Amino acid sequence: PSDTGRVLSIQSHTVQGYVGNKSAVFPLQLLGFDVDPINSVQFSNHTGYPKFRGQVLNGDQLWDLIEGLGENDLLHYTHLLTGYIGSVSFLNTVLQVVEKLRSVNPDLIYVCDPVLGDEGKLYVPQELISVYQQKVVPVASMLTPNQFEVELLTGLRITCEQDGLKACNILHSAGPRKVIITSALIQDKLLLIGSYKKTEEPPEQFKIEIPKIPAYFTGTGDLTTALLLGWSNKYPDNLEKAAELAVSSLQALLRRTVEDYKRAGFDPSTSSLEIRLIQSQDEIKSPQVTCNAVKY
Ligand code: ATP
Ligand code: PLP
Ligand code: MG
Ligand code: NA
Ligand code: MG
Repeated sequence: PSDTGRVLSIQSHTVQGYVGNKSAVFPLQLLGFDVDPINSVQFSNHTGYPKFRGQVLNGDQLWDLIEGLGENDLLHYTHLLTGYIGSVSFLNTVLQVVEKLRSVNPDLIYVCDPVLGDEGKLYVPQELISVYQQKVVPVASMLTPNQFEVELLTGLRITCEQDGLKACNILHSAGPRKVIITSALIQDKLLLIGSYKKTEEPPEQFKIEIPKIPAYFTGTGDLTTALLLGWSNKYPDNLEKAAELAVSSLQALLRRTVEDYKRAGFDPSTSSLEIRLIQSQDEIKSPQVTCNAVKY
């Protein structure tokens, strides 16, 4: 048994580059977790490149792996982490996995990044939205949507901070005690908005303003959710602290990424950057808090 926990992480794998499990597994290991990855897809590289190839795991194949673990009594997990899921059938199998893991450990924490799209663009089939709304959100312990995903899940347009808080309340009433809008562009500011419904009292809500770097990254959403899982396990009653640590370590990593690209003679604002994950291990293990939470 590990001190911190054992995470089952069902996410994409890319041979080269850092998205999905490639972006989540290493940081969680650095934070002391045993991490068991199931690769929902195996692609040559992420889908932002001009081309990609590879294989997609289907729901039956996922269930096969779970049964294999179960036959050896290896389904003792403290956390389940899921990211991009491309089909209704796979998502339904993930729901079966949640149920199965909770039958072994009723205290299982399910951290769900409800990946639907970004900046107004949907990148999953439309039918997934209602499955997330009706079946997935209700069983999640922590939800980490971005602005567009919150809008799709709640039907609320987020144009000001109050809209964001209201959307978090709607999501709490559907299930998860911890909701983090991982990025929202509101009145020209990049914000993370967090909401923790500890008790039956109104939730504790806060924001962190994130200095916007003029570059486009992939894998940062997946990394954010992994870091939030890691730090909120260390600080289970302090979501603000967990978010400050996650955001601060991410900012240090992104600054390093941009610096490294510049040093190599690239203009970081012109293409999607691969994050410098391995090189940033110190900032992941022991981040300095540079981004502070502000309570509402
Ligand atoms: P997901 O894609 O998982 O649904 P998301 O859209 O919030 O979530 P990102 O847009 O990658 O994912 O943002 C996640 C985090 O990455 C933000 O909270 C921020 O800390 C950091 N980040 C991403 N891009 C930038 C940027 N250009 N400048 C500063 N921080 C950034
Ligand atoms: N998974 C795969 C296979 C991808 O191609 C991408 C982005 O291109 C992602 C996940 C998303 O990464 P993130 O939302 O963390 O930027
Ligand atoms: Mg985004
Ligand atoms: Na997110
Ligand atoms: Mg994303």
